Amino acid sequence: MAIERTFSILKPDATVRNITGAINAMIEKAGLRIVAQKRIRMTREQAETFYAVHRERPFFGELVSFMISGPVVVQVLEGENAIARYREVMGATDPAKAADGTVRKVHARSVGENSVHGSDAPDTAVKEIAQFFSGNEIVG
Ligand code: RTP
Ligand code: MG
Repeated sequence: MAIERTFSILKPDATVRNITGAINAMIEKAGLRIVAQKRIRMTREQAETFYAVHRERPFFGELVSFMISGPVVVQVLEGENAIARYREVMGATDPAKAADGTVRKVHARSVGENSVHGSDAPDTAVKEIAQFFSGNEIVG
């Protein structure tokens, strides 16, 4: 299996509850390596660009407001099959439907405030990583 990189965000509901370390422990336990990480406050423009694919969805405004409501931790994760692996670790978007032991089952507050983001495909992973990290900030 190929070593891949994926883009992750620990969302404001995670930073405000001071559970970023607990989530990072779940990520590392799953065999994923955090090869870049920084805590930032997203601007509205950054959040709107990042979630542009959802611009027409009814929850877009709420989603952008939530993502800029507090600090986030942006990360690059590396490992075998990292994109699919991290989505398994995160669990379903709606925590009520997430499998036991997943980040969202354990930590998420709701379908909107669901603690983590992970890229959904190789092309989006490359694009999302490039929005927040330059090459020399990623150290594998
Ligand atoms: P993400 O992009 O954040 O990793 O999550 P995902 O792939 O599991 O879900 P996606 O469909 O891409 O939705 C992006 C984020 O929008 C919020 N959302 N709210 N209120 C709602 O019905 C609703 N649906 C989605 C969530 O924060 C979701 O993670
Ligand atoms: Mg998504």
